[in-house]
Amino acid sequence: MTVLEKDKKYLIQCYTTDDLVFTNGKGMYLYDDKGKKYLDFSGQFSACTLGHGNEEMAEALKAQIEKIVSVTSCFATEERAALAEKMIEISPEGLEQVMFGCTGSDANEFALKLAKYYRRGGRIISFRRGFHGSTAGAAAATGKSEMIQENSGISELLPRGFVHSAPPYCYHCDFGKEPGSCGMQCLKYLEQTMLHEGGDRIAAVISEPIFAAGGVIVPPKGFWQGVRELCDKYGALLIFDEVVTGIGQTGSMFACQYEGVTPDILVTGKGLTGGYVPGSAVLCRREIGEEMGKISLHGHTHSCYPLTCRSALKNLEIIERDGLVENSRTTGEYLHEKLVALKEKYEVIQDVRGRGLLQGIEIEGNKSADKFDLGQRLYEKILENGLITELESRRNLENVVLVMHPALITTKENVDEAVEIIDNSLKDCLK
Ligand SMILES: Cc1ncc(COP(=O)(O)O)c(C=O)c1O
Repeated sequence: MTVLEKDKKYLIQCYTTDDLVFTNGKGMYLYDDKGKKYLDFSGQFSACTLGHGNEEMAEALKAQIEKIVSVTSCFATEERAALAEKMIEISPEGLEQVMFGCTGSDANEFALKLAKYYRRGGRIISFRRGFHGSTAGAAAATGKSEMIQENSGISELLPRGFVHSAPPYCYHCDFGKEPGSCGMQCLKYLEQTMLHEGGDRIAAVISEPIFAAGGVIVPPKGFWQGVRELCDKYGALLIFDEVVTGIGQTGSMFACQYEGVTPDILVTGKGLTGGYVPGSAVLCRREIGEEMGKISLHGHTHSCYPLTCRSALKNLEIIERDGLVENSRTTGEYLHEKLVALKEKYEVIQDVRGRGLLQGIEIEGNKSADKFDLGQRLYEKILENGLITELESRRNLENVVLVMHPALITTKENVDEAVEIIDNSLKDCLK
């Protein structure tokens, strides 16, 4: 049997969508089993900050495996203490305690627990089109219809007490308004939602600062400031899910630092360890962490493993030493400009959004093609032409967005190559 045949026979196929077998990777490229080279602009769901096959990381992990790997969260280790200190150093002022996790989903679960415990209950408000993970609480906060929300059998797993407000999605405004003259209806709606769902009894508002999986939705200027003020007004905690936007992806270490808005709880994952070992982290204000510290109800076997901490420490060391956050900002601006130039050329590109190396292009249909079919064909053609991106496209959500979040090591030459592939693929698809 071939690798694909075995995979299809034995693996539950709830995620696999492309018939590709990757065998190795180096820097910005992945190679398939036929030796074909792919430029990776998905960063493998944005986890891969340093690109593939980073030798310094490999050496650090080898040394760590030889030193010590398995220590549960019941014990302190040098690696855990060093990473905790580092996390506080790189985070917005005011976030002074941290807890580690294994995935973005479990880190979000912990953030929700922290908020519920600190606030002694209350509703959780999130936004439609936001994504927070696949475990129960994180999936309940998710405002994007996924399998668990759509299937009446498994949706029973979703806990109650989660409410979704209108997203700050100017291109697809839920209120049919235009940016600039809208009076920020989405913010007013959030306040109404908070009032109707308990007012000062709300536990928290959770959101990504830029909605990545929802289609790279960049909220208008002032939106987060407004949300912060509403949270303060009603005593709700503000949780930023920076599982995608964190660790430099948007050109600042955390996207909220660009916004100048500090949450009460900040969640990060994916790129924290450069994608080499699973790992995530939840940061919070000291009084929230200390309150939680009084009880013992959270932890995962692997969550504070020295190996996880070492990979995060090495990742952050390389990112800082090589100025990769700054690179994400400048190369991201270059990518944005080139995508805007493509928009001028092709009417099917209706919007280009993003910050740093998190960018998305919103696709519309034309006389001869429905946007969903066109989006799918374009994604496949781009992949066939050697570029890995992600496609966010669901008919019930009415948008088609090609999403990119390449590694922080992306160069302008990589951008030129990627945009040329998109350009050629568009030409092919629109023939
Ligand atoms: C914003 C956001 N939060 C949380 C998660 C869940 O992270 P994980 O897949 O590591 O559980 C994701 C995953 O895509 C995400 O995009």
